[in-house]
Amino acid sequence: MLVKSFIALAACTRFARAVPYPHDSTSRVLPRAANSTTCPGYTATNVDVTDSGLTADLTLAGTACNAYSEDLQELKLVVEHQTDDRLHVKIFDAGLNMFQVQEDVLPRPANGKAASSGAAVRFDITAQPFGFKVIRNSNNETIFDTTGTPLIFEKQYVRLRTNLPKDPNIYGLGEHSDSFRFHTKGYRRSLLNAESINIPNNANLYGSHPVYFDHRGDKGTHGVFMLNSSPMNIDIDQNDAGSQYLEYNAIGGIVDLYFLAGPGPADVSKQYADVVGYSAMYPYWALGFHQCKYGYWDVNMVAEVVANYSTAGIPLEVMWTDIDYMDARQDFTLDPERFPLTKMQELVSTLHSRDQRYVLILDPGVHAFEEVAAYKSGHDLDVFLKAADGTDILGVQWAGAVAWPDWFHPNTQKWWTDEVLSFFDADSGVNIDGIWVDMNEASSFCHDTQTCNSRQKAIDDGIPPKPAFAPRPNTGRPIPGFPSSFQPDSSTKRDLEARQAMGQMKGFADREWFNPAYTVSNHVGGLSDQTIPFNTSNYDGTRQYDTHNLHGHMMALTTQKSMSARRPDVRPFVLTRSTWAGTGRKATHWFGDNASDWEHYRTSIRQMLSFVSMHQMPLVGSDVCGFNGNTNENLCARWAMLGAFQPFYRNHAELSTIQQEFYQWASVAVAAKKAIDTRYKLLDYIYTALYYQTTTGAPIINPLFFLYPEDANTFGIQEQWFYGDALLISPVTTDFSDTVTYYLPNDVFYNYWTLEKVQGAGTNVTETNLTTSDIPVHIRGGSILPMRMNSANTTKALRQEDFSILVAPGTDGSARGRLYLDEGEKIQQSDVSEVEFSFQNGKFTASGSFAYKGAVGESITVAKVLVIGQDKAGATGTFDAATGSVEVQGPWKLDGGFEFQL
Ligand code: GLC
Repeated sequence: MLVKSFIALAACTRFARAVPYPHDSTSRVLPRAANSTTCPGYTATNVDVTDSGLTADLTLAGTACNAYSEDLQELKLVVEHQTDDRLHVKIFDAGLNMFQVQEDVLPRPANGKAASSGAAVRFDITAQPFGFKVIRNSNNETIFDTTGTPLIFEKQYVRLRTNLPKDPNIYGLGEHSDSFRFHTKGYRRSLLNAESINIPNNANLYGSHPVYFDHRGDKGTHGVFMLNSSPMNIDIDQNDAGSQYLEYNAIGGIVDLYFLAGPGPADVSKQYADVVGYSAMYPYWALGFHQCKYGYWDVNMVAEVVANYSTAGIPLEVMWTDIDYMDARQDFTLDPERFPLTKMQELVSTLHSRDQRYVLILDPGVHAFEEVAAYKSGHDLDVFLKAADGTDILGVQWAGAVAWPDWFHPNTQKWWTDEVLSFFDADSGVNIDGIWVDMNEASSFCHDTQTCNSRQKAIDDGIPPKPAFAPRPNTGRPIPGFPSSFQPDSSTKRDLEARQAMGQMKGFADREWFNPAYTVSNHVGGLSDQTIPFNTSNYDGTRQYDTHNLHGHMMALTTQKSMSARRPDVRPFVLTRSTWAGTGRKATHWFGDNASDWEHYRTSIRQMLSFVSMHQMPLVGSDVCGFNGNTNENLCARWAMLGAFQPFYRNHAELSTIQQEFYQWASVAVAAKKAIDTRYKLLDYIYTALYYQTTTGAPIINPLFFLYPEDANTFGIQEQWFYGDALLISPVTTDFSDTVTYYLPNDVFYNYWTLEKVQGAGTNVTETNLTTSDIPVHIRGGSILPMRMNSANTTKALRQEDFSILVAPGTDGSARGRLYLDEGEKIQQSDVSEVEFSFQNGKFTASGSFAYKGAVGESITVAKVLVIGQDKAGATGTFDAATGSVEVQGPWKLDGGFEFQL
């Protein structure tokens, strides 16, 4: 009974916060300050021009307007050509009182002091009224222009506006669920990290990435990164005269802009990585298929799901367990009855013996009760955020009343690492392979943080300090492949009724912290609702007001270091819900609590495009088949296919939903087998792309305009993408349809499934009668794909398969590709191979470096090369008229180069 009421009430809490998501609206009237029009702006004096930049003093040019707080009289301007392609423009208060993002959060890129004379862009300053333009030297295109609208720089409000050309193509500014290319009238992006049930449109979501890409076709692409973590609205709109602009409105911080000159879109991606950091390299296994669900209510059920995947013949690489495993939802605990340690250890060792992996979740809030060990150890090290009177700042998360770790406290890393080391100890604890950090916006179930009594709120929500869980018996069914403790015990059977019940289930010190006069839109309510109060001081003297958006980023970075301490040799795997600029250098991300519907199936594509190509977070994906609400067979089958061509591939659902593992429906199982089979054959291709994103910043996922930057038809495409740079994916995106109309650029393509050559004409193509296991995939002419001959049940087994190289010549008959090989998991890779494939004038060549020799049993052998798009046999190989291909048999060992002439 107690179990039921706890669960029901906890579920109520969730649903009370749930709002249906509105559909993307194209135009709104954005609120304006009545008196911001009278602001005097600034005058630049002492302009000191050097070889690679300039400095100046900025002085308020008239009577303060105090639009939303006090105008600051004296500012400094620093302009640096840090490299030929990167211009840094920083405007800050002469008194140095405004908050600036800590170095630990984002280590600043070095200033290479490039000569202005050789730079891609120039900086044009207007002294009175102060304004500036950034102009591309090659074509005199103005890429940023603040002239015409005075800069406002106040204690609690900073406004900077740039003029834009008509109908601009602007992207980025995540996290959002809106169109990939932004609407240009009345459109607002609010950056304020928040709990976002059903990922509403036109709203702030879990993460903040203040970087946009501005694509101007043949005039080039540039990026603008505002290194400011304050909550802000970025408005894209037109003035009364119809002139287009983009305007930053932040409630703090400084103007700290990095202009990334491109000129191509992928060049901007790379230049952005130079600023925020390159993505970490993730383990090979992380590209496998993952299964999770909130509501796997005991260790037997977890084992059963794993076994069911095996029985169904659907490869499962990584099993996950949500907060269900915890004792009363408390971090670093195990439910002693449902997830006892011994059985958890058996579960993990069984998974590992089968070459599968296991990931567990952690929330930031630590249950604030003396007897909770992690709370006590944290308290001993003084790591929790405190009110002025020294008491803990409390919030409410799944465990009840929680204390919040201060990620800026010097002891926090040690405390968190010690907890991780002990709880996840390989011998005495749960030997996990990855950690999932959730609810780290930070999200609190207390709505009004100023008035909420967290302890009372937890009680009101029915979350007792330590809820009693009834022991749950074994299912009574055998769980193949698991130890005897998982096998039937005739005296027990599953309590079905109880199971069904689970279905409900630093800056100026004197500021206005909660209601500053300028309002940043927040879909959960007021500025600091449902999170840690904004007046809370961090150990380093900064306030949550300024660092709120960094909470998840810091938790992810801290957890990544803890994981490194646990297994110093291997690449840590951390998945985080909340992110900020540069989180990708340490962690992966999923798009949070979507709904199990077609709109969010489509949304997953737009979110992936922004995160991978513009935010330098390559390993991302959505909850496949959908999180909130029940999915359905048709949607889940299509999503199984869709997810296979997205970087992070995990099926996950909410507590109260039906089970949605791929084996639950025959058609979904068919689709999933095909999807995973295809994904795995291509796993080295995508692992190679991932490696190059981590080293060059070139994205693993390409929006169409990245590869066809001069084709205006591609600029708005958001339901197709390139997986790597060679495979164009065009899924069915209409609800319950078997038809898709997609765009084929003017180029040579090949149907991936039939190998038929298709000449794209820069027009739309319609395909019909697509079953739920069909997804149009085209190979871009000019590509060489390294593939595995066969798929396998695990990625370890996959590495034993020989390679088959697919050559897809482009319009000029040539093609290129590459293959990166390493051991797959270690941080230090002593021996790696970087193989370059080329095909030109009928000659195939594999060259490069070949140090990777392969572990015992692994294959680094190329069994065959298949050249498609051929109309006749060559001197070598076997011609197949049906597919228009010539197959040349090897084997060739990739311990050196090889070549042949067709
Ligand atoms: C949050 C997460 C979701 C998870 C749930 C329970 O809503 O976004 O993925 O299942 O918490 O931990």
